[in-house]
Amino acid sequence: MQFDEIIKDTNYSDSNKPNLLDYKKQYENFDWYRDAFSKLDWLPDGGLNNAYECVDRHVKNGFGDKLALVWLGKNGEEENYTYKDFKDQSDKFGQVMINLGMEKGDRVFIFMDRLPELYFAAMGILKAGGVIAPLFSAFGPDPVKDRMLDAGAAYLVTSPDLRKKISPIIKDIKTLKEIIVVNKDNRFEDPLVDNDLDYEALMKDVNAESFKLVNTSQYDFSIMHYTSGSTGKPKGVLHRHQAVVQQMLTGHWALELSHGDIYFCTADPGWVTGTSYGMIAPWTNGVTQIIYEGGFSASSWYEIIQKYKVDVWYTAPTAIRLLMRSGEEVVNRYDLTSLKFIGSVGEPLNPEAVVWGERNYKLPIHDNWWQTETGAIMCANYSSTNIKPGSMGRPFPGITMGILDDQYNEIENEDSGILAVRPGWPSQMFAYWKQDDMHNSRFKKGWYITGDQASRDKEGYFWFQGRADDVINTAGHLVGPFEVESALIEHPAVAEAGVIGKPDPIAMEIVKAFVTLNPDYEQTDELRRELIRFSREKLSAGVAPREIDFLETMPKTRSGKIMRRLLKARELGEPEGDISTLEDD
Ligand code: PRX
Repeated sequence: MQFDEIIKDTNYSDSNKPNLLDYKKQYENFDWYRDAFSKLDWLPDGGLNNAYECVDRHVKNGFGDKLALVWLGKNGEEENYTYKDFKDQSDKFGQVMINLGMEKGDRVFIFMDRLPELYFAAMGILKAGGVIAPLFSAFGPDPVKDRMLDAGAAYLVTSPDLRKKISPIIKDIKTLKEIIVVNKDNRFEDPLVDNDLDYEALMKDVNAESFKLVNTSQYDFSIMHYTSGSTGKPKGVLHRHQAVVQQMLTGHWALELSHGDIYFCTADPGWVTGTSYGMIAPWTNGVTQIIYEGGFSASSWYEIIQKYKVDVWYTAPTAIRLLMRSGEEVVNRYDLTSLKFIGSVGEPLNPEAVVWGERNYKLPIHDNWWQTETGAIMCANYSSTNIKPGSMGRPFPGITMGILDDQYNEIENEDSGILAVRPGWPSQMFAYWKQDDMHNSRFKKGWYITGDQASRDKEGYFWFQGRADDVINTAGHLVGPFEVESALIEHPAVAEAGVIGKPDPIAMEIVKAFVTLNPDYEQTDELRRELIRFSREKLSAGVAPREIDFLETMPKTRSGKIMRRLLKARELGEPEGDISTLEDD
């Protein structure tokens, strides 16, 4: 059966056949235009819109009464929305934004927990031609300010609690025109501050029928996600509507999503997995998506899979390690036999986790690899191919990956080197917002340089070795050491700060800071706790250091750069390597 027939098929078949039946054949004969671009509906005059392909298309094709979204609130609420409901709600929000004067390309930040309104707003903004910039709701004021300032945010959609958390920084965002506050089920008293607008009131004033989708092209900007690098503040990765092509097809072939499936993705839209695979891929594939507002909980997650008969579950290695820790007895209490596919992304999936998954879920866990910059899955273990536990699989059809030496020449043997991709894939980032030099520096000798180290075996499977830079991967979230260092040195006690990732059996790495103190401050446990509290409040619990050590002097190069590599080597008791550039005391 052809892919477009599956998408339009009303008889949701429970075929056990993998969607990508013959990897090798598809890889060798693949054509983006024939096999992917042509499978979308497109707009009548050649335009392309992510949200149209996610929502409106299914209504137009007769699936309006199919469930698009099942929302499970943290207080036990459940709300169900069909594709028709979803279209109405997002059309209305699109109209709200048009009425507010939003223009094509305006950056609209969404800073809220996983509520249905987050998704209505996101789709509405996209339909009205805006660019969505979702932020992780756990962020403190500093990361929110940095990102909104950098992007020149025009609008903010948030909830009363988060709005208040960032109140002090709002006045600094001079480009901000309106703040729209979603007070879900009147959870908060006095939800509005100053001139904030009430979501419900705005939505009451518009009707879905009067909304006209703004004609976006495949080259118009759609989504902006901030990602961390080793130097400087996070960069805004700008994606275009055309990314939907790859998100849809990878959803179908690498995650086994088919029309009518029940899908559960545990990622938050504040990170790219939660938009590419928590919005675009599932809905373009016509699935019913379970959105769970709560965080990690082994029993709640299993309960969801059992109760809603989840077919496809996409999660992350840290979560899998936590599930392993919570034990096999917990798994055995639930019936998880509805599952047909489990995927994992974000960090290396250790072979033990694959084996444990196979034993407990009676299904292998399929690791796949990609980045904020790649926008969609690039390399995967597929349902129809052998899994090599510990490997992130083979390149998706249409994607060419290579391993390069330090001169950016391809290595043909199994040695490890720089993981690189041939540019030109549909979901490739268009830019780092206003950082052209940084963007251009990622392309060398006809390759996109990923920033990861990896190797490739004889059968073409790729094996992750580590990051080539100082970026920390904690529980699948990238943390830039500079962002944490900047927050720490704002504390009056701190003279200098150096931040590293310290290996951790569950979270892969935890954030560890080393600080030197200003005169008159003493190295006490109380100060250590105070610094952790201080940075948690500014950044978020996930980004703030979990451990802080005091140093008398900070190892720096003669040009004054903090030697994080040396801090890490000392922490791990490893050889210090080349310290010829170390500043003399
Ligand atoms: O270092 C790799 C790691 O996460 C980075 C991308 O993170 P981010 O831009 O936040 O995108 C998250 C969406 C996947 C990569 O450069 N990473 C991602 N997947 C894997 C991985 N490391 C090892 N194995 C993976 N499967």
